[in-house]
Amino acid sequence: MLNTVQLELFGLEDTHRLGRLLGQSAQDGDVLALDGPLGAGKTSLTQGLAAGLGVPGRVLSPTFAMVMVHEGGRLPLVHADLYRVGDPSELDELGWDEHIAGGGVVAVEWAGRFPGALPKDHLALRLDGLGDSRDVVLESTGPRGARWATAVVNGWRAGE
Ligand SMILES: Nc1ncnc2c1ncn2[C@@H]1O[C@H](COP(=O)(O)OP(=O)(O)O)[C@@H](O)[C@H]1O
Ligand SMILES: [Mg+2]
Repeated sequence: MLNTVQLELFGLEDTHRLGRLLGQSAQDGDVLALDGPLGAGKTSLTQGLAAGLGVPGRVLSPTFAMVMVHEGGRLPLVHADLYRVGDPSELDELGWDEHIAGGGVVAVEWAGRFPGALPKDHLALRLDGLGDSRDVVLESTGPRGARWATAVVNGWRAGE
């Protein structure tokens, strides 16, 4: 089973392509944990994911809303950003558990701030570097995440 994979993304188009593959191969209930510094590409990648799911309209950073649900694609996309969440009790106020368990695909920016807020089996994606490219580490934490990672990496290597 695939556990950890490293990729390099040369420019925004690569970031969108990786996101699109994630969206095309996502299954209901899949959770993507996105980490990396400000400007690393977490939102850009989620925009690609939305495109891969066929979500219509624009997907913006949910930094202030913290959670945005996008309907209209193959599956709903729940897009969260935990950057401004200060305390786990704020997650309860956001109805976090319902968002996670409510169906669809969940993408969480700054997921590493609240490791306990994610289901045990997910796909963690870390972006690093702020120049012309980004380093990516994909790490699955269970069979569901591993299936997703395998589908994405196969598509990536096939040039899809
Ligand atoms: N692979 C890449 N190589 C170089 N620049 C990238 C790449 N992917 C995205 N970018 C750029 O980096 C920035 C990422 O911003 P954003 O997606 O909002 O990051 P974050 O959500 O992590 O704060 C954008 O300006 C985007 O054009
Ligand atoms: Mg962002």
